[in-house]
Amino acid sequence: MTLPMDLPRTIADFELRAAELLDSGPQGYYAGGAGDELTLRDNLDAWRRIAIRPRVLVDVSERDPGTTVLGRRRPHPIFVAPTAYHGLAHPDGERATARAAAAAGAVFCLSSLATASPAEVAEAAPEGERWLQLYVFRDRGVSDELVRAAVEHGYEALVVTVDLPVLGVRDRDARTGYAIPDAVAAPSVGAMGKTGAFSMLEIGELIDPSLTWADIAQLAERSELPVVVKGVLTPEDARLAAEHGVAGVVVSNHGGRQLDTVAAGADALPAIADAVGDRVDIVVDGGVRRGTDVLKALALGARAVMVGRPVIWGLAVDGEAGARAVLDLLVAEFDVALALAGVPRASGLGPESVQIRG
Ligand SMILES: Cc1cc2nc3c(=O)[nH]c(=O)nc-3n(C[C@H](O)[C@H](O)[C@H](O)COP(=O)(O)O)c2cc1C
Repeated sequence: MTLPMDLPRTIADFELRAAELLDSGPQGYYAGGAGDELTLRDNLDAWRRIAIRPRVLVDVSERDPGTTVLGRRRPHPIFVAPTAYHGLAHPDGERATARAAAAAGAVFCLSSLATASPAEVAEAAPEGERWLQLYVFRDRGVSDELVRAAVEHGYEALVVTVDLPVLGVRDRDARTGYAIPDAVAAPSVGAMGKTGAFSMLEIGELIDPSLTWADIAQLAERSELPVVVKGVLTPEDARLAAEHGVAGVVVSNHGGRQLDTVAAGADALPAIADAVGDRVDIVVDGGVRRGTDVLKALALGARAVMVGRPVIWGLAVDGEAGARAVLDLLVAEFDVALALAGVPRASGLGPESVQIRG
């Protein structure tokens, strides 16, 4: 794999370049976390605290980074996390990121707060594999319509985000007074009659804070698509997910944007894998920035990782090509990590592949 010459070489370099290009409002919105941003930082540190235990003199001349998630074989385990408002980073918005994901062989998870509709994204990247992230809004009709569109336009799963009954304390946005401009309105928000510039706090108020496991069970029962619950951090909740008809969980703290000082996905993952790894498919996100992080995630029981901010940075730097480069470089790094760890097939990773530093 060769990256375009003029693009950054690492995710960290994409982050720096994007920060130079973005206005302070969107930059703070993308980069920020909740409260003192301790979880935001810990998401990065947690992967770094884990050491890889490499094996040598293993034939790694042929490698397979593939994984199976929701019963389908995927070429690699790097998925695009649902993030809102790609139109703030680039005028092509989600159409560009969906095309980039399709080209990179990555599952693309479209946010309920996207600046493009499920139909528009499906049309932009018809060959791509796509999931729809669902916020259950107080106006259930709007969520029902998103589900209907997902079914109609070939989305393969519903990813219900459950860690945002209310918006976390987002001090960066409060400081910059950032409001999402009308020009990048999300169709779902428009459908709720909201126009003009509005703060994320106002968006948060659109979401139904009364959602419970009973709603999840009902959705899983009625839905034509498998339901994945995103935002689980304890084995107790992972077990409840399995008991309520859910096909997968995303171990996630929403990129450190919701409840500050909760555990990083990397730290929450092993106990959740122990509890439900044989019953539901586990995906993890938060702070995945290197191929070695992907290897550690799979070693600890995840079948895939989701990547949030890095894809936005790629989009901000060079639209579709930038987002594609971010995904390609993670896939390439993961391949090198597999070879150097002496595990030619991703399916061969296990707890023995890593060591938690004391
Ligand atoms: C700018 C931004 C917007 C986000 N919007 C959503 C969203 O609409 N729905 C959702 O479930 N998660 C959302 N998330 C959380 C991501 O899906 C994911 O959990 C997180 O970004 C992963 O961490 P990372 O950014 O360190 O990779 C958002 C995250 C960011 C940074």
